[in-house]
Amino acid sequence: MNSVERLFDRMPESADRLSSTGTWESGARQWPSSEQQTLICCRIVEETHDVRTFEFRTEDGLPVRFEPGQFMTVSGTVQGQSVARCYTISSPPTRPYLVSITVKRVPGGVMSNWLHENMKPGNQLHAYGPSGAFTSTASAAPKSLYLSAGSGVTPLMSMTRASVDLGLDRDIAFVHSARTPADIVFREELQRLVKLSPRLKVFFVCEGIGNEKTWVGATGRLSIQLLSEWLPDYADREVFTCGPAGYMSAVRDLLREGGHDPARYHQESFDISAAVAPEPAAPERERAQDTFTVKLSRSSKTFTMGVSETVLSAAKKAGVVIASSCTQGVCGTCKTKVLEGTVDMKHNGGIREREVQKGFRLLCCSRPTSDLVLEL
Ligand SMILES: Cc1cc2nc3c(=O)[nH]c(=O)nc-3n(C[C@H](O)[C@H](O)[C@H](O)COP(=O)(O)OP(=O)(O)OC[C@H]3O[C@@H](n4cnc5c(N)ncnc54)[C@H](O)[C@@H]3O)c2cc1C
Ligand code: FES
Repeated sequence: MNSVERLFDRMPESADRLSSTGTWESGARQWPSSEQQTLICCRIVEETHDVRTFEFRTEDGLPVRFEPGQFMTVSGTVQGQSVARCYTISSPPTRPYLVSITVKRVPGGVMSNWLHENMKPGNQLHAYGPSGAFTSTASAAPKSLYLSAGSGVTPLMSMTRASVDLGLDRDIAFVHSARTPADIVFREELQRLVKLSPRLKVFFVCEGIGNEKTWVGATGRLSIQLLSEWLPDYADREVFTCGPAGYMSAVRDLLREGGHDPARYHQESFDISAAVAPEPAAPERERAQDTFTVKLSRSSKTFTMGVSETVLSAAKKAGVVIASSCTQGVCGTCKTKVLEGTVDMKHNGGIREREVQKGFRLLCCSRPTSDLVLEL
């Protein structure tokens, strides 16, 4: 039996199915977010002039289990430095043998440019298992509204592809904002999916027309007027939003203006500039000691830091390299055991309660409340 036959031989035991509640269930094996695996690049798709999809299979060819909307933390050595970044799995869990990430080149960005320039079919990429809670799977809402801008399209694309693959014909309205028509990621595929799923509606709004003089779609920015015109029932929909920080804040404002219930609003930010958690309130700062000492138990390094900094940013300033990615308490890359001392941690789902009980903290969103000894 050759490797392809062996793969097919495994398929029945990893069959994917819908649960009785209509949510996603997969027989594919779990890949814990704390476990690194080697992925092999199989295919690269040019989506736009600065966005590429990289398709991977696992080294052993086994399928991967994840929820639509989850991300992987990928890592590589770029110019001698170990770099880790989060990328949403843009493919759906209904196609568990190939996992895709769709990456926009960020000017001056380390990982996105490295992937665009170096990742070729046959090359390896190291990645930690799927993570993140931004998924529509658990939502029992009969109608959804997906709002995305730029590369923020990826989690919503995975959710849409999964819904169409499963033949669910969910009532999904997908509104994507782009700079110009040429920047619309997955444009043709989304238009094709509409034909396959009668209750899927797709709308594009572009800031400008760029070189596409024949563009007849909406131009400008998403507004409550445009949303009401396209979707008079938008206030009844469960909203999932992903895009740059400025876009998401504008979306939140316009939905609030339109009377949408904030309890039915879910978002994920890719934006590292939005990552800096707020400083402690002034009275707390006045009470607190100004600086604390941080010791690293393995390397015996020591540095001092201010109370308003995160441990990760203070370590970086002190020349201590700590693996990190999202810097917003989402991905878990900076998880470290605090052996002595206490921190104030404000995370966004990147750590489990049982890990906190064992003394682990996310250093990107933790500020010291005493001197610290870290297991590093
Ligand atoms: C949960 C999650 C999911 C994501 N999913 C996707 C996805 O599906 N697709 C996607 O394309 N992206 C996604 N991202 C974003 C991705 O993780 C990276 O942040 C993005 O690709 C940029 O990484 P980079 O290494 O290329 O850029 P970086 O090197 O991190 O740089 C980012 C920006 O900061 C600037 N910069 C870097 N260093 C400095 C400095 N010292 N001073 C000032 N400016 C500096 C750079 O010029 C650049 O503009 C996701 C992020 C998160 C958190
Ligand atoms: S770097 Fe992602 S949780 Fe800290």
